Amino acid sequence: MHKICLRSLVLLLVVFSSTAWADLDPASPTVFITGANRGIGLEFVKQYAALGWNVIATARKPEKADQLQALTAAHEKVVIEQLDVTDFARIDELAAKYTEQTIDVLLSNAGLTPKYKSAFKRVSGVDWDIARKSMEVNAIAPLKLAQAFMAAVVASGQKKIIIISSKSGSFELGPKMPMMYSYRASKAALNMYMHTLSFETPKKGVILTLLSPGQVNTMEDIERFKGIKIPNTIETDESVVKMLKVIDGLTLEDNGKFLNYEDGTILPW
Ligand SMILES: NC(=O)c1ccc[n+]([C@@H]2O[C@H](COP(=O)([O-])OP(=O)(O)OC[C@H]3O[C@@H](n4cnc5c(N)ncnc54)[C@H](OP(=O)(O)O)[C@@H]3O)[C@@H](O)[C@H]2O)c1
Repeated sequence: MHKICLRSLVLLLVVFSSTAWADLDPASPTVFITGANRGIGLEFVKQYAALGWNVIATARKPEKADQLQALTAAHEKVVIEQLDVTDFARIDELAAKYTEQTIDVLLSNAGLTPKYKSAFKRVSGVDWDIARKSMEVNAIAPLKLAQAFMAAVVASGQKKIIIISSKSGSFELGPKMPMMYSYRASKAALNMYMHTLSFETPKKGVILTLLSPGQVNTMEDIERFKGIKIPNTIETDESVVKMLKVIDGLTLEDNGKFLNYEDGTILPW
C-alpha cells in the first residue's frame, strides 16, 4: 500500500513537471529566473510574463510561493520549478530537463540578503554560517548556473546572462563603514567570478552583464514592514522596469560590465 502511494506520488510529480515544460511557446523568448517567489525576482516574473515571454520561475519552496502560483494561473507561459541554488545536482537536473529549450536570458537573482539589525553587526558579531552560506548562494551558485545553462543560452536568440549584483560589493561605491561583512564580500566575489567568466563569453556570442538594481524596498514583502516606506529606496516595479530596459538594450559591448539599473551607466568595481 505504502509502495503504491509512493509510486503514484512520483508519477504525479513526473506528469506535473513534463506538463510544465510543454506549456512553453517556442515562438517566444525565454527567461530563467532564480529566487522568483518574492522581491525583485517576483517582479521580474510579473514583467516578463506581461511582455509575453516564457518564464521559468524558480523558487526554493514553490508550494509556499502563493504570489508566484497566482501568476502561473494568469499566464500560461509561466512555469515554476523548485530550485535551491546551492543544490548543484538539482541545477544539473534542470539544465538536462531544459536541454531542448533555449534560454534567451539567464537571470541570476537569488541572493542571501542581510536584513534588519544583522546588517550593522561589527566583526565581533559575524555569523560564520551566514558568511559561508553567503559565498555559496551569492557568489558560487551564479557561476554554477552559468556553467550548467551555458549551452541553452548559446543556442538562444538573445544569448544573455544577467547577474544581479550590488553596489555593496564595490570597493568604490560600497558603504564606507563596517557593515554587511558577509554580503559585501560575497558580492565582491561574485563580481570577480563574473569578470573572469566574461573573458570566455564573447567567443560564444554571449553577453554577460552584472546589474545593480538600486536600493529597492523589498522589505514590503515582510509582514511587519508592510506599508512602511524605507528612506532612500525605490519600489521594486520601478527598479525592474528600468532593468528590463537596460537588459533589452545590451550588446556585446556590455559584456563583462557592471551597470546601473537606471540608465545602464557603467559602475566601478
Ligand atoms: N533590495 C535591494 O535593495 C538590493 C540591492 C542590491 C542588490 N540586491 C540583490 O538583488 C537580488 C534580489 O534581492 P531582493 O531584495 O529581492 O531580496 P529578497 O527580498 O531577500 O529575496 C531574495 C530571494 O532569493 C531567494 N533565495 C535566497 N537563498 C536562496 C537559495 N539558496 N536558493 C534559491 N533562492 C534563494 C529567496 O528565496 P526564499 O523566499 O526561499 O528565501 C528570495 O526569493 C539579490 O541578489 C540581492 O543581493 C538587492
